[in-house]
Amino acid sequence: MKLSVAILAAGRGTRMKSRVPKVLHPICGKPMICHVVDRARELNAVAITVVVGYGGEEVRAALGPGLDYAEQSEQLGTAHAMAQARASLAGRSDIILVLHGDVPLMTAETLTKLIRRHQESDAVLTVLTALAEDPTAYGRVLRDELGNITGIVEEIAATPEQRSIREINTGLYCFSDCWLWPRLDRIQPDPGNGEHYLPGLIAIAAEEGQSSASAVAGDPDELMGINNRVQLARAEAYLRERIRNTLMLSGVTMIHPPSIFIDEQASIGQDTVIYPNTHILGGTTVGRECAIGPNAVLRDATVGDRCSIVASFVEDSHIEEDSSVGPLAHLRSGTRVGRRARVGNFAEIKNSRLGNGAMVSHFGFMGDAEAGEDVNVGAGVVTCNFDGKEKHSTHIETRALIGSGTMLVAPVRVGAGSKIGAGSVVTRDVPPNSLAFGAPARVWRKLEPEEPPEPSEPED
Ligand code: UD1
Ligand code: MG
Repeated sequence: MKLSVAILAAGRGTRMKSRVPKVLHPICGKPMICHVVDRARELNAVAITVVVGYGGEEVRAALGPGLDYAEQSEQLGTAHAMAQARASLAGRSDIILVLHGDVPLMTAETLTKLIRRHQESDAVLTVLTALAEDPTAYGRVLRDELGNITGIVEEIAATPEQRSIREINTGLYCFSDCWLWPRLDRIQPDPGNGEHYLPGLIAIAAEEGQSSASAVAGDPDELMGINNRVQLARAEAYLRERIRNTLMLSGVTMIHPPSIFIDEQASIGQDTVIYPNTHILGGTTVGRECAIGPNAVLRDATVGDRCSIVASFVEDSHIEEDSSVGPLAHLRSGTRVGRRARVGNFAEIKNSRLGNGAMVSHFGFMGDAEAGEDVNVGAGVVTCNFDGKEKHSTHIETRALIGSGTMLVAPVRVGAGSKIGAGSVVTRDVPPNSLAFGAPARVWRKLEPEEPPEPSEPED
């Protein structure tokens, strides 16, 4: 059995009241269409065609290569959208699975259930339905006295009696390839708005005496369609909860889960504890036995095992195991913090490397800097990395100690084992094992090289 997938995503989404195409509105950090494509990719389909129209270029750019696209230049309804996929899909597979770009939360299991149901029946089409708590705005499923599906009636055309039907059309279907394509042109335009509706095929099958099958989704929320921003918020809340539950069941502790926001791509290791009001976003990876939060925001960060991050922003940065950050630190793009290192309150670090055991325990700024192992940067130290035209780098070698309130005017290097007195302005390189201070700083005397300390054990 060969399967192809068509994803209908050409509509503007008028009810979103947005310049942005509806299918690009993000849910848990990812455009909703990308959720749909990710599910489609799990199905071993021979082809996936996305029908684009409104904002088509933007949608293609968001999805990238590896997919086929069909263009629907005028949005004349879901059946018309489907007809645009004919050239790329017809004759390539036995079954066509139709997905909607605005129905993004279904699981691969649900799709497999729909496909299996279609394979097991002799029907030309199988529709996935759900029993909605509130069916408002969805197409309602019409059945005859034997329970066979005879059609779908859209809300606008439904009688009050039909509106009370709770079984809804999710918009997901399987069609037999050879039956589908010639039938699309037979769908009559809706008398109300002239659009060609894909569910019209159910009535056509019934007229032909062909049977339509159905599969009922276990969880109606998983199949919610997103047409406006209230539904967008509901989908976000639903998916956030699903992500949290999956992580908790895999061994992550969450204190007050509703205040914890985790994106789908993020991963978190066992026995890590996430405290309230914490956001773990993008492709962030957190190791085992960490403590993250309260009030932490991690975006595209990599955090090793046994780290603690409290009330801090960490963006596009890498923190190795047994290190601590915060409270109230800001790690900006391109920062690497070594093992057993410590970044304290009001420290801002950008595009810099801190060696193993290094400490920037108090307020200050490190930009374009490299600090070696066991370096100790005092309170209020600033790497003056910008001369008004260009950025320059600062090197602080192993075990150097930078006294409080020091300005390191880049480009500059402080040698291994050197000490800079408090309040210095370092404008020239300081050789290793030297004591320098003053403004501008000068070397006052050489220091006895110290034995490197034994690596300290992480604290309990
Ligand atoms: C549709 C179904 C409805 C179902 C609901 C489930 C139809 C006529 N109605 O209604 O029975 O209960 O989904 O969520 O199919 N699209 C195009 N081109 C178009 C029109 C739409 O590509 O010309 C795409 C949209 O981008 C969207 C999807 O098809 O991803 C569904 O369109 P939408 O306008 O949201 O239909 P609903 O009113 O939600
Ligand atoms: Mg919709």
